[in-house]
Amino acid sequence: MSRTGAVTAWAPGRVNLIGDHTDYMGGLVLPMAVQLGTTITAMRGGDMVELTSAQMPGTVAFSLPVRHPERIEPPWGRYVAGGAAESEAAVGISGRVESDLPIGSGLSSSASLEVATALALGDAGDPADVARRCQLAEQRATGVPCGIMDQLASAAGVAGHALLIDCSTLAIDPVPVPDDAAVWVVHSGQERGLVDSAYAQRRAECEAAAAVVGPLPHASADDIAALPDPVVAARARHVRSECMRVTDFAAALRAGDLAVAGSLMLDSHRSLRDDFAVSTDRLDSLVESLASTRGVHGARLTGAGFGGCVVALAEPGVDLGGWQVTASAGAHLR
Ligand code: GLA
Repeated sequence: MSRTGAVTAWAPGRVNLIGDHTDYMGGLVLPMAVQLGTTITAMRGGDMVELTSAQMPGTVAFSLPVRHPERIEPPWGRYVAGGAAESEAAVGISGRVESDLPIGSGLSSSASLEVATALALGDAGDPADVARRCQLAEQRATGVPCGIMDQLASAAGVAGHALLIDCSTLAIDPVPVPDDAAVWVVHSGQERGLVDSAYAQRRAECEAAAAVVGPLPHASADDIAALPDPVVAARARHVRSECMRVTDFAAALRAGDLAVAGSLMLDSHRSLRDDFAVSTDRLDSLVESLASTRGVHGARLTGAGFGGCVVALAEPGVDLGGWQVTASAGAHLR
């Protein structure tokens, strides 16, 4: 890409079909990039980043290099500044951000903004490298020690496929989404709360377990059961069992067995509710009502939890009243 001139960068949001709170422990996840995303249309040149947004208030304006992304106002600019800082951008952009993703609902609008920013600023690394930088951007912008799933799904999406990602190596194995699988994202009506502190706390509990039993995806069930702190043991049990469900779910998708896939989603939700304690009453009752809806194979909370969205797998033609999402290609310049 030339250092000056017009640039249009697009990056998708993602929905995670299964495998939550496993990425930061080197586990398995199965997200897919979706057709909704963030577009940055800008002119490159100079050393300023200046962006307005069709959806978010205010103008983001800072000069490069940016040293404190976490202090940028308005707050959505912190994702932009984090992306600029981590990609070590030297040439600025001036333009506009547009997103057709629901903001802050669990479809990774922030990851898609970070990845679109990185591309618009000329980051031309391979998707895993872009994603690593954008993960750091998110951590700097929010202070939350998030994993890499959201940014990697956005950067590396494959049309028509979910991505089976081993977060210990970042190896990606695309899994075709069957034609008769409709994926819906339905909002619980509850804004995500408590995410920052509770997310960090869950991660610390998992790390405490791993310090004793080794990497949780491969730890033995007996070693986990022998952990003295029952809360730490429950967190570890979730990570281990969730990784097994991801493997089984990917196999079910490949076999076109959506009934099995759906029941694994329900198991995942129960584990996130009981062992990981990141569900809420609203999420639980939404999952329950979707699961008993005709034509729905299964449903679960998706992403960090504590409110936000549920993902459901359904037969084609069923309207679940949220966003129907399709598996999309990853971020690219247009
Ligand atoms: C958030 C984080 C991800 C991941 C999920 C839970 O979306 O950004 O890295 O940990 O929560 O699976």
